[in-house]
Amino acid sequence: MEAVAATKPLLEVLNGVPRSPPPIWLMRQAGRYLPEYRALRAKARDFLAFCTTPELAAEATLQPVRRFGLDAAILFSDILILPFVLGYPVGFAEGVGPRLEPLTDRAHLALLDPARIEASFEPVGASIREVHGALPPNVALIGFTGAPFTLACYLIDGQGGAFPRARRMMREEPALFADVIERLAETAIPYLVRQAEAGAEALMLFDSWAGLLPPSLFERFVIRPTAHIVSGVKARAPRHPMIGFARGAGTMVGPYATKTGLDGVGLDTATDLLLARASIARRIALQGNLDPYALLTGGAAMIEEARAIVTALAGHPHIFNLGHGVLPETPPEHVAALVAALRGA
Ligand code: CP3
Repeated sequence: MEAVAATKPLLEVLNGVPRSPPPIWLMRQAGRYLPEYRALRAKARDFLAFCTTPELAAEATLQPVRRFGLDAAILFSDILILPFVLGYPVGFAEGVGPRLEPLTDRAHLALLDPARIEASFEPVGASIREVHGALPPNVALIGFTGAPFTLACYLIDGQGGAFPRARRMMREEPALFADVIERLAETAIPYLVRQAEAGAEALMLFDSWAGLLPPSLFERFVIRPTAHIVSGVKARAPRHPMIGFARGAGTMVGPYATKTGLDGVGLDTATDLLLARASIARRIALQGNLDPYALLTGGAAMIEEARAIVTALAGHPHIFNLGHGVLPETPPEHVAALVAALRGA
């Protein structure tokens, strides 16, 4: 596998070297807040077709990098593309969100077929290769998938929300729930390794609903499967840094960073940076955590909040980001102003 160039600011920071100003990218940096995204999106039949048509996915990936000069591109895809690639019935309702066949039994579990990765990975690989060839030399490409717990939530409930079915299943049918988590962890490994082979330079796990769990279950369904994925991926792609984002981790963010082997940890909006910094080893990069609503509102308050984040993490390897994704109503000019202010312009 091609060695990852450590000269890109994002990769340097993930190797534990602080940079000032910090590299910048934003979760959900591609999306409906960009007029050029809306125009491109209109060319696809639906969201799944958009994600799995390499020319469209590659162009959506590049749009925010081109417009704002960010330090990373994140593959335009979705966390639910992994179950889709495995053959699970996944859909997206226009303007609403994910709609899946709710996973209730072992017959549904069998629809997550590891053997399908081989044959069905290709649109993802083609998108990555296309982006990789078109990126400016200082910009790193991030590949990703959903972490097992968050994917299990969507699979078992069939849609977003408070995930009552998933939260009951883990207690009422613990063996089935554990097998769902295990299947998702086992398949995330080759899915991420293939992304690395295609040209992704850093790999990220989104665990957006980790904050639903009490500490003992957080250990079991977030930390343990994440550690398993990290060691499995690193056995085959040892030079590809990995970032984990366990939204809502709260006081579990220290154990999440320390016990998983991750190279970087995403911090959500509610995280106190000085507390997080004190509980996380200096070699692990911290990513975050501007409130997406500060970006939505913009102006001097946004700049002030952003600068306070940079100050709080000065001297620690830091990747500037939001604490959650860009909101669709965000004026793109606010992103440009944020980047200019952080770069000292
Ligand atoms: O720019 C990027 O960050 C890359 C692309 C990306 C998308 N989804 C595109 C998308 C990434 C990294 C994701 C991750 C994702 N998807 C997460 C984890 C991060 C988080 O937000 O917590 C989750 C939970 C999902 C599941 C998902 N996909 C939901 C809940 C929705 C509907 C809500 C919404 O914003 O519409 C989606 C659809 C989706 N994924 C869109 C985009 C741009 C909107 C669909 C559209 O354009 O019509």
